Amino acid sequence: MNVVMIGSGYVGLVSGACFAEFGANVICVDKDEAKINELLACRIPIYEPGLDDLVRRNVESGRLTFSIELENTVANADLVFIAVGTPTRRGDGHADLKYVYTAAEEVAGYLQGYTVIVDKSTVPVGTAREVCRIISKTNPSADFDVASNPEFLREGSAIGDFMRPDRVVLGVESKRAEQKLRELYRPLNLIEAPLHITNLESAELIKYASNAFLATKISFINEMSQLCEKVGADVHSVSKGMGLDGRIGKKFLHAGPGYGGSCFPKDTLALIRIAQEHGVSSRIIESVVEVNASQKARMVSKIRDALGGSEADKTIAILGLTFKPETDDMRDSPSLAILPALVDKGATLKAHDPEGVEEAKKILPEAVQYMGSIDEVVKDVDAVVLMTEWNQYRGLDLDKVKSMMKGNVFVDLRNVYEKDLMESHGFEYTCVGR
Ligand code: UDX
Repeated sequence: MNVVMIGSGYVGLVSGACFAEFGANVICVDKDEAKINELLACRIPIYEPGLDDLVRRNVESGRLTFSIELENTVANADLVFIAVGTPTRRGDGHADLKYVYTAAEEVAGYLQGYTVIVDKSTVPVGTAREVCRIISKTNPSADFDVASNPEFLREGSAIGDFMRPDRVVLGVESKRAEQKLRELYRPLNLIEAPLHITNLESAELIKYASNAFLATKISFINEMSQLCEKVGADVHSVSKGMGLDGRIGKKFLHAGPGYGGSCFPKDTLALIRIAQEHGVSSRIIESVVEVNASQKARMVSKIRDALGGSEADKTIAILGLTFKPETDDMRDSPSLAILPALVDKGATLKAHDPEGVEEAKKILPEAVQYMGSIDEVVKDVDAVVLMTEWNQYRGLDLDKVKSMMKGNVFVDLRNVYEKDLMESHGFEYTCVGR
C-alpha cells in the first residue's frame, strides 16, 4: 500500500510515521525543502515523545521517506492524505483552507490509476466535497474518491493515540474507498479499535464536535472551580464525585488556567463560524470560549491576590510555559495571556520550561528572563507560579525551593500539590477551586 502524506507538520509527520509502522510505504511531502532535508537526516523539527525513534526505525526499514516532489509520488499512490495546516483566518475565526485547496489542485494533475484523496487536516464541514469538486475540475479524467479521516492525536501522547485509538473515523462515499482505508488500518483490527464509517459531512463534524465537547468539560469544571472557592468546596473532589458517574466520566474535568494548544481554541471558534454560516446558534460553545478567556484573566487576579494585592515590583518564578506538558507548543498557551498581564503591572518574571523556551522567546514580552534550571528560576523570588504540570515540577524539593526564595508565595494553577503539605513547608499556598 503506497501512501503519500502532504504536509510534514505535526499531524502529517506523526500519521506518516505511524502508517509506515503499520507496514505501508509512506512518502511525506512538504514544500519546505530545509525541513525535508532535516527529516531525511532523521532530525525531527518538533518535540513529541517517541517520534524520533519511530521515524528513524521506519526510514531505516525503507518504509518511510521524505520528498519535496509531488508528481511521481502521487502517481504511484493508493492513498494521498492532505495534512496541511488550517490556521484560524485572521479576523474572522474561520479555518483558512487555502493550503488544503492548493494541495488538492496540485495533486489532481498527477493522479494516475484509482486513488483515494483523504482529508486529515481539521476542516469545516463541506471541505471534502469541495476538494472533490476541485480535483474533478482540474483533472476531469481522474479516477478517484475523496474521504475524510480526522485525527484525534494529543500532543505529547500522539503516537500512543494513533496506535491505540478510541476510534478511527472514516467519512467515505464508495465501497472502493472504504476498502482501501480499511486495508490501511487493518493492523488495528488486532486491538479491536472501532472503525466508525460514516459520510463525509459527519466525519468532518465529529472532529469539531469532539473537540468542542472536551473544551466544554474543561470550561464547565473551571466555572465550577470558581464556585468551589466561594462556597468552600474542593474542585478535585467535585470532579471526582461527578466523574464516578459513568455517564459523565472523569476525564477532562481537571480545573486549571484554561485550555490552550493548537486545537481547542481554533476548533471552537471555527465551529461557531460554521454554525453561524448555517443559521444555527452555538450558545454553548460561545460560552465555553468566553469562560476560557475569563479563566485565564482570573488566574492573573489570583496571582495578584496571593501577592497581597499588587504584583508591582515583585519577582515571580514561572514554572512551565507550554499549554501542557510533553510538548514545545506554545500556541494559545494560558501563559501567553497571563505573563504579559503581570509584566504590564510591573512584575519581574523569571521563567523555566523544559522544552518551550525557544518558542516562548519569540512571543512573550522581551522583559521575561529565561532560566536553565529550577534552582535558578526560584532564586530570590517573591512567588512561584506553577503554570504547566511538567513531571519535574510535580516532585519539587520543597524545602530547597522555599529556602532559595525571598518570599513564600506559591500559586499552583494546576492543583499539583496539597494545601496542608505546602503549608507544612512554610508556603502561603493558593490553587484553583480548592
Ligand atoms: C486535543 C484533543 O485532545 C485531541 O484529540 C485533538 O486531536 C487535538 O486537541 P491537545 O491539544 O494535544 O489535544 O491537548 P489536550 O491534552 O487535549 O489538552 C488541551 C488543553 O486542555 C491543554 O491546555 C490542557 O492543559 C487543557 N486541559 C485538559 C485542562 O485544562 N483540563 C483537563 O481536564 C484536560
